[in-house]
Amino acid sequence: SKKLLVDVDSGVDDAQAIMLALGAPDVTVLGVTCVHGNTTVENVCRNTLRVLKACNQLEIPVFKGADKPILGNMLDPGHFHGQDGLGDAPDPNAPGLDLLQKENAVSAMIRIVNENPGEVSLVATAPLTNLALAVRMDPSLPSKLRGLYIMGGNTESRGNSTVCAEFNFAADPEAAYIVLNDYQCPTYLACWEFTCYSKLPWEFCDTWLAQDSHKARFMKQIFQHSIQMSKDSEQEELVHGFISCDSYAMAAAVDDQFIIESDCYPVSVELTGTHTRGMMVVDTMGLLKKTHKAFIMKKVDLERFKQMMMAALK
Ligand code: BDR
Ligand code: CA
Repeated sequence: SKKLLVDVDSGVDDAQAIMLALGAPDVTVLGVTCVHGNTTVENVCRNTLRVLKACNQLEIPVFKGADKPILGNMLDPGHFHGQDGLGDAPDPNAPGLDLLQKENAVSAMIRIVNENPGEVSLVATAPLTNLALAVRMDPSLPSKLRGLYIMGGNTESRGNSTVCAEFNFAADPEAAYIVLNDYQCPTYLACWEFTCYSKLPWEFCDTWLAQDSHKARFMKQIFQHSIQMSKDSEQEELVHGFISCDSYAMAAAVDDQFIIESDCYPVSVELTGTHTRGMMVVDTMGLLKKTHKAFIMKKVDLERFKQMMMAALK
């Protein structure tokens, strides 16, 4: 079975991505590492435990990682996922943070990959701080991964957080830079514009949430807030369908036949710039003289995606 390690900032779409993995056949989630992002890292930990509880899989270890980016402070996440990161639909019986592992997320990442050399797919759906710290502590880490799947970055300088940057890269540009330059392993990117072009219709969302299951009822509660934010948004791409950004990176890790077409180029991240800090840079001409290229998802099998999404809430 496929072994996954998942790095999240849960986040409603992170929750959807985790549930997609848990609902997929032949997938083992070895652990979930948490990082700042959509909310504070403490909230991310609590939210992640809530997701695992809703799936009856609290035996999966959850680790707390970085509480802010490598430089500077946490980026204001806005309110898209609610103040608490999970749609502001609190559960009075939410699992306590005492259920967290004592080991730090970065150490756990290094340990788990080294215990399973060549076998782990690392799926990152959050600012890349934990991954950047991990490769500084263990430079051999990338060579021991089966693959790296990231939701983040952009290809057409369209931002969703700053003018020109996607949230996960904008929230820690230095970490994104380190990861894109130092993880010389098979790397698959689900970038912001791609997720917009691959959105699912609201009708599918209705069918998805109407399933008669505990998981579907949980999702319906936590998702309500972002559905409303999307539908009311002034951002054109959010209005006409639902974009579960993080689930695309997860689907690619879970299903080898999900990606139909991708571009393959060296990529990096802008670290300065008046408007462009955090923007992904795609080196189509090879001018950066980098040998490592990433697969940038372009076309995916949306029918398979819908099936995986449906199975996530069964
Ligand atoms: C990314 O930012 C977060 O809000 C989402 O969880 C996703 O990982 C989209 O830009
Ligand atoms: Ca996320």
